[in-house]
Amino acid sequence: PKTVKRGATGAIEVGSVNIRKIAEEHGTPAYVFDEADFRSRCRAFKEAFGGAEVFYAGKAFIATHIVRILVEEGLSLDVCTGGELAVALRGGMPPERIGLHGNNKSVAELTRAVEAGVGRIIVDSFDEIDRLSAIARRTATRPKVMVRVTVGVEAHTHEYIATAHEDQKFGFSLSGGAAAEAVDRILAEDVLDLRGLHSHIGSQIFDTSGFEVSARRLLSLQAAVHDKHGIELPELDLGGGFGIAYTTQDTPAEPADLATNLMRIVKQECAALQLSVPHLSIEPGRAIVGPAMFTLYEVGTVKDVDGIRTYVSVDGGMSDNIRTALYDAAYSATVAGRTSTEPPILARVVGKHCEAGDIIVKDEFLPADVQAGDLLAVPGTGAYCRSMASNYNHVPRPPVVAVVDGESRVIVRRETEDDLLKLDVG
Ligand code: LLP
Repeated sequence: PKTVKRGATGAIEVGSVNIRKIAEEHGTPAYVFDEADFRSRCRAFKEAFGGAEVFYAGKAFIATHIVRILVEEGLSLDVCTGGELAVALRGGMPPERIGLHGNNKSVAELTRAVEAGVGRIIVDSFDEIDRLSAIARRTATRPKVMVRVTVGVEAHTHEYIATAHEDQKFGFSLSGGAAAEAVDRILAEDVLDLRGLHSHIGSQIFDTSGFEVSARRLLSLQAAVHDKHGIELPELDLGGGFGIAYTTQDTPAEPADLATNLMRIVKQECAALQLSVPHLSIEPGRAIVGPAMFTLYEVGTVKDVDGIRTYVSVDGGMSDNIRTALYDAAYSATVAGRTSTEPPILARVVGKHCEAGDIIVKDEFLPADVQAGDLLAVPGTGAYCRSMASNYNHVPRPPVVAVVDGESRVIVRRETEDDLLKLDVG
């Protein structure tokens, strides 16, 4: 994966800065953010999807600096809590370019979004339709809404099973008729402005046919709405979920290929159903930020366990990357500055937490002379690592260091023990 690059001397570099320098200046562990790489992915999605609106999914990783970049690159932003909304507004995202998600948005979150004038609220339940209508009346506003539809596509990492996955908490079921009823109820509320249908089928998806099935099903509902109410909903959102390469075995689709496929299907389907093509939008998170970061650790101990495998412990762990423990996710690791000619050793990169499942990289061949004090980089940690980080074992969360044009700068500072102790009010 892209972010671990070797410079002319063989040293690992990011944004033309040697990672040794980053470690010296900022300490370890640290998430290192390659700003140019992030921007190039924003552009790739914008260009590939042409006129479609690209909502970056803030849950993957959000910080005010990220929001500022998104504003500059012309992307919009999907948030799913009041906290993410606060960062979006603080970073200067124009409210009309913000979409609010969530299956259990509170009255406070909805009110704040409505008062800020967000561009769309993706409604997820009948309770929410009632709640939002009441807020709209109280604030004399007419929020723009979309209906989150459960299209019945179960997306696995490498496959999808059509007609499955109705049994989960998000959205209104298409097959059970709840989605059509949600449309009816919203249209009956003149304080709500129904913009369109939305579907998100899952995450880390490689097989694009799931998106195609989803688009077809959304458009069949679009046609039914047209037949029943005589209106064509102007927008259609196909969600996020586009996969990235965590290891060399992963072969995700390029944004351009994804876009060509999806836009072709939407156009074909609209022509067949005699609908005008709605304004498309997508919500990629991982595919934009995932490859743009790596985590930099320092090796603390190296332990050979009965000749089976070598455990390489680093100074972070499941508190800064829970994905291996939680999803059995695969990562890779690279050690800086070791050039042993011995055959590499089979290693497991583990953290410093009091738990045997505290694994960051399950199996990796590392240089035979890997040793305490070495710097170790785990690429592809931009998405759902800092955003899902915890303080397990009272470990302060690492900083995010942005590197661009030979300079590094902290964009999220390292937590301190004091930060943690301050919360404990006795
Ligand atoms: N839109 C909606 C409505 C979503 O629920 C999500 C992700 C996205 C967009 C962005 O999906 P992405 O393009 O980043 O795959 N913690 C898990 C991923 C959870 C994703 C939740 N929703 C992980 O670490 O893999």
